[in-house]
Amino acid sequence: MESDYKDAAKMVGEKDYWAQVKRTINGRPMADSDIAMIINAISDGLYLHSGGQDNLLDIGCGNGALTSMLYPSLASMLGIDYSEYLISVAKRDFEDPGHFEYRVVAAEEYIETAEDVLRFNKILMYGCFAYFADAGGVLRTLRKRFSNVERIFLGNLPDLAKAEDFYYGEIPPWGELRNFDSKIGIWRTEAEISTLSAEAGWSASFSYMPSGFYASHYRYDVVLTPV
Ligand SMILES: C[S@@+](CC[C@H](N)C(=O)[O-])C[C@H]1O[C@@H](n2cnc3c(N)ncnc32)[C@H](O)[C@@H]1O
Repeated sequence: MESDYKDAAKMVGEKDYWAQVKRTINGRPMADSDIAMIINAISDGLYLHSGGQDNLLDIGCGNGALTSMLYPSLASMLGIDYSEYLISVAKRDFEDPGHFEYRVVAAEEYIETAEDVLRFNKILMYGCFAYFADAGGVLRTLRKRFSNVERIFLGNLPDLAKAEDFYYGEIPPWGELRNFDSKIGIWRTEAEISTLSAEAGWSASFSYMPSGFYASHYRYDVVLTPV
């Protein structure tokens, strides 16, 4: 998966933002209406509003195309991703130094070692949480070190209870559903996310995209707040 995002993005056009992060449906970039639904869900979940003063950390930000749509609601934003190519696109097309910045770094390394973490009050992880080798460790580190964070949005998580609806009955082996390095990452039930979050000191609440959204039948979103 890591190599997927690191290299596959280069196979499509340099402004093919949605294809670069695999946000396509049957090979075609997602409709603007679906993107608008994502932005609405994130804004609602993180309590973002136009002209807001929030300072956001976007973990696994990809090429910044989605993140940049949140700028009108933010005072500042740091986007991090381990894909050098995607961050080069983000820097080229979406960076605004001093306000909205991007950095190549693995999530685990950044959250353990960064020194200025108290500046963030909101965190976004859209479409990346399922790819963490130690998701519980990530949640624990965020709780321990990011003391000013009020809300975290985990977006587009694959629901283990609905894997059948996605695979039409031909479910892959258990090992693949539970492999962070597979194409979709780790499928988890809501109960698992609640437990993982509670063990790290977060309370989880769940939300679902409108039925017209391409993935509403097998994915869900989560908002974490400190316990
Ligand atoms: C599906 S893309 C989503 C990108 C962006 N959040 C969006 O929604 O447009 C998943 C991203 O997570 C990044 N990613 C996955 N695991 C990561 C990790 N451990 N550290 C940093 N980035 C990671 C990948 O490089 C990829 O850009």
